Amino acid sequence: MKRLTRRDFLILSAKGIGFAVVSTGLMGCDPTDGDRDVEVEFLHGVASGDPSQDSIILWTRVTPKESATISVTWEIATDSAFNHIVHNGSTQTTQANDYTVKIDAINLEAGREYFYRFHANGKTSNTGKTKTLPEGVVNSVKLAVLSCANYPAGFFNVYNFASQIQNIDAAIHLGDYIYEYPVGGYASEHAAQINREVLPATELFSLSDYRTRYAQYREDEELQLVHASMPFITVWDDHEVANDTFKDGAENHNDNEGSFENRKLAALQAYFEWLPIRPIQEGNHSEIYRSFRFGDLVDLHMLDTRVLARDQQLSFTDYVDPTSDAFNSNQFQSDIQNASRTMLGQQQLTWLESQFSDSQATWQVLGQQVLMGKMYLPGAVAIGAMSVEQYSELGSLAALGAKIQANDPSLTPEQIAYFVENQDKLSDAVLAQLQLPNMPYNLDAWDGYANERESIFQLAKSNNHNLIVLAGDTHNAWCNNLVTENGEHVGVEFATASVSSPGLESYLSIAQEAAPAFEAGITALIENLEYCNLYDRGVMVITFTATKATSQWYFVDTILDRNYITLDARFKQMEVVAGDNIISN
Ligand SMILES: [Fe+2]
Repeated sequence: MKRLTRRDFLILSAKGIGFAVVSTGLMGCDPTDGDRDVEVEFLHGVASGDPSQDSIILWTRVTPKESATISVTWEIATDSAFNHIVHNGSTQTTQANDYTVKIDAINLEAGREYFYRFHANGKTSNTGKTKTLPEGVVNSVKLAVLSCANYPAGFFNVYNFASQIQNIDAAIHLGDYIYEYPVGGYASEHAAQINREVLPATELFSLSDYRTRYAQYREDEELQLVHASMPFITVWDDHEVANDTFKDGAENHNDNEGSFENRKLAALQAYFEWLPIRPIQEGNHSEIYRSFRFGDLVDLHMLDTRVLARDQQLSFTDYVDPTSDAFNSNQFQSDIQNASRTMLGQQQLTWLESQFSDSQATWQVLGQQVLMGKMYLPGAVAIGAMSVEQYSELGSLAALGAKIQANDPSLTPEQIAYFVENQDKLSDAVLAQLQLPNMPYNLDAWDGYANERESIFQLAKSNNHNLIVLAGDTHNAWCNNLVTENGEHVGVEFATASVSSPGLESYLSIAQEAAPAFEAGITALIENLEYCNLYDRGVMVITFTATKATSQWYFVDTILDRNYITLDARFKQMEVVAGDNIISN
């Protein structure tokens, strides 16, 4: 299918098919219709997003005291006092779009900062700051990368910190902007104590449920602050619908919960109402892959690895014999390498191919959800049969046994005694598990779709591009060299920690003081992993110049108190030099 160009979009908009009011110029601000007597409030702040060189989406929501048609005027200026308004207009909003307001402000100047606000029935919103994309020769581009904000898990201190970072061109939100769970669900241990229990109290299924959850999130002061500070470029991950979403289902959806298709449509409609995202055409809530050009320096391609086309995730349990506990490694390897397994789907992959081949920008950046680096662990650990510690203990014991069998002269009497005392631990099942090849542990990530990942690597390589992949989803920070099946370096992945969702430290019960040693162990165990933080919540800032791409990871000390400090000792910076496709420090 042909992607709509901006011109097509404007034609559709002019025909009244456009989703939002497309502004056309400076006009009088005096709407005469709408229910002028209904009292309204702006409770959900303002937001902007999907900047281009000459346009930007402006967003707000009004909360009327009763059901009504509300006229809303908006203005965008080059100064925060609104002395130099370059554009204004009016629109209406109703219950039909949950009283959200989206304006596509056009005819703006490239690479320029703007201020915007809204008025309705005598009330004025707060003022938002935003920025259009630059054009021509660009010296640097600075992006704040965010993901995974679970409201009941803690305060959004990371959003607060992100809002204070200077000279950000755009925030890239890689999804899990909301979570679908009910009160008492995932990561809610402290919710009652910190007064952050979710609304509605139930899991999200209907349009009304998803709208209520977005409204609660957007009443959060820190989230409002970061939206008002910079434009957002967003994609969804799984929790905007349900955990581990794929094209026609999700781990957290069963048949008793009604039609998955209906749930998905409701979730995506609410997403388009509440996020400052520009649809490719009216009513199309399913295609969000799109590109952003930062002059000659960066082409950012935002992908959907979740909803549009993803095949269902493989599951290790399908490969374990229930009687013998034996793992069918051959069948697993054959299924995971299956050439037809897809996350992007052919249409999106073909589009990416043309974006890559058309681009002259120094850096090709993929803004997407799940880890693309190869995160292979020893098989026994990957399938969950052993912990890292057990693998290391039993692996050493088995190696000792092999030396004894070979009459190795270097053996000490203590080593032999240790083996005799512990050899019962090496059952046939354990020995078989120790011999499993290295395997991916997260089948929801690109590791579960290896063939399509290789296609992307080959695309980057054949176009001789500098590839930088941004990822979220895991709640931890990572840096991976991206390597083809033949061992060629084709790019680098920078992955951000979560805003508030718990990471590996929670699943593996890692104590704070044990985190650095654990991180060092994991980094040593995974071949192309160069760095990880497996404990702290934070934001990643990526700065691109003509010669290098630099990632900086910032972390906060707490999310259980609104007072926080950044953890200077955990700050990390890593760089890749243009042309190298490999981390240089
Ligand atoms: Fe998440």
